[in-house]
Amino acid sequence: MATKKAVKKTPKKQPKPKVKAKPEEKMFTIFIMGKAHNVPADATIMGAIEYAGYLIKRGAGCREGFCGACATVYRLPGDYKIYPGLACTTLVEDGMWLTQLPVIPGQKAIYDLGKLEPNVATIQKLYPEVFRCVACNTCTKACPQDLEVMDYIQAAKRGDIEQVMDLSFDCICCGLCAIRCPAEIVQYNVSLLAKRLYGKYLSKKSPELKKRLKQVKAKKFDKEYKEMMSMKKDKLKKIYYERDLES
Ligand code: FES
Repeated sequence: MATKKAVKKTPKKQPKPKVKAKPEEKMFTIFIMGKAHNVPADATIMGAIEYAGYLIKRGAGCREGFCGACATVYRLPGDYKIYPGLACTTLVEDGMWLTQLPVIPGQKAIYDLGKLEPNVATIQKLYPEVFRCVACNTCTKACPQDLEVMDYIQAAKRGDIEQVMDLSFDCICCGLCAIRCPAEIVQYNVSLLAKRLYGKYLSKKSPELKKRLKQVKAKKFDKEYKEMMSMKKDKLKKIYYERDLES
């Protein structure tokens, strides 16, 4: 959530603006919680909020589009639509009228995974509101990850746990689907349940994982862990971004 800086109370904790305007830089006017601010035209929403002098206390995590902490909604001039987005990766537009959503309350079932079965009865018991889905597709339109959210909710209604897991794999739990859902379904928690059920009961067991766990327990990587723990942030970052990614 963006809150106005309390300069007198916490002077040492004020962050420097993440985006600095150059003298000749193109600027946009945006409205943050109803107040107009001039911000650099190439700023992300998050950068613009900080440039405008707000301290983001909640609603920011990875700042790279992965954690889902920075759900934002906005409107543009002359456009009736409400746009959802992630503040850390969405660029500002002139006349944008926005607010950040620091947390989206959602019903979360408590369960013992070991006592569940991967089927429709489990969905029915833990998230009965799934069956209120009216297939309006609003959740899909709200998803900043472009996931087929409505489709995975339909799969949940059929008890197709594997398809729920598959279609919702890249969900970052930002909650924008849930806030727009007229049936009040908390889609991302249904997705989490399906992923857990899939992992425990349906996925093929990996011999590589078994082997790696053995190696970890035998302290095979302890030396590397130690080295990494003593590294400077910049070096760690370099290693992280240069790592091999599975295709
Ligand atoms: S801060 Fe993590 S997705 Fe935006």
